[in-house]
Amino acid sequence: MTEHIVPLERFVDARRVLVGRINHTPILTSTTAGRVLDARGIRVGDGRIYAKAEHLQKTGAFKIRGALNKMEALTQRERKAGVITLSAGNHAQGVALAAHQAGVHAVVMMPSGAVRSKVDASRGYGAEVILFGEHVGETWARMEEVQAERRLTFVPPFDDPYVIAGQGTVGLEILIDMPDVDVVVAGIGGGALCTGIAAAIKETKPGTRVYGVEPVGSNSMTLALERNEIVRIQPDSVADGLGSPFAGEWTLAMAKHYLDGVVLLDDPSILAGTRFALERMKQLVEPAGAAALAAVLFGQIPINEGERVCVVFSGGNVEVDRLGELLAGAAPLEIPAPVV
Ligand SMILES: Cc1ncc(COP(=O)(O)O)c(C=O)c1O
Repeated sequence: MTEHIVPLERFVDARRVLVGRINHTPILTSTTAGRVLDARGIRVGDGRIYAKAEHLQKTGAFKIRGALNKMEALTQRERKAGVITLSAGNHAQGVALAAHQAGVHAVVMMPSGAVRSKVDASRGYGAEVILFGEHVGETWARMEEVQAERRLTFVPPFDDPYVIAGQGTVGLEILIDMPDVDVVVAGIGGGALCTGIAAAIKETKPGTRVYGVEPVGSNSMTLALERNEIVRIQPDSVADGLGSPFAGEWTLAMAKHYLDGVVLLDDPSILAGTRFALERMKQLVEPAGAAALAAVLFGQIPINEGERVCVVFSGGNVEVDRLGELLAGAAPLEIPAPVV
């Protein structure tokens, strides 16, 4: 492999590993979202926004893709010793289920404030869950100690070619179902999802543009791209799934090579997008999963007249009580009336 660039064959291989084991999720459409953009003077192709529904994926997020692909690549010895990972929740669930299917013991480290449903689900899939640290940075440091003490194999949440290839299969499926797509938008945490999608799509259909979205309070990829080095931050955003303390070596290299841009979005806008997904599209999407839609709705993504735009709804794991509290404080977007 060229240094830190995952080639197209790896994405195709990953799709072969995953077919029949995960959901080929549908692509939803919203004409109301199209109208919101119309009112901003942006006329999207056939008046609709498309959304790849990975919140309907097994475990409620795309993360199972990378986890299964990585598990498949482990040696017998590594499988026997067991695996370890850390996550705010969705990667934990993905690894827990993938390990369960492969008969591998999984230790999952999560920050002590992790969303309860994500902790319960990981335990439900048979993982040993260890809650540690106020912030994911602290969890990460402890995870490295536990990994060394127990000689476990680390399944990285994003900075790994197999994980990136697995997440990038979302892009291959978008191309299968929407071959005329012009613009794809996805949230960025550590960056495997968005850069994997970008590589898979652009190596197959050059000319398609792919943008990433980061919360203002969790801008590790933006900083890494600006400074051309990995920058450590303490993520602080309502979109916990996008709260990575740093970009990875692989994901930074891939972002430089493949992304057309990364935009920053504040938490109120992310919540407005989450609210739109629920109220208007009837989809329970967590804030991290709705960030891409929010960026499009707020006019942050460059879109030319008539282009067909697909956002990724990357996950839907959020407790409804918590979501209710968050959305109670979120202003709804202004929706123009339909033209009859
Ligand atoms: C729902 C959701 N969306 C997006 C992301 C970002 O993925 P990545 O870390 O590959 O950038 C995550 C990561 O945990 C997530 O849980």
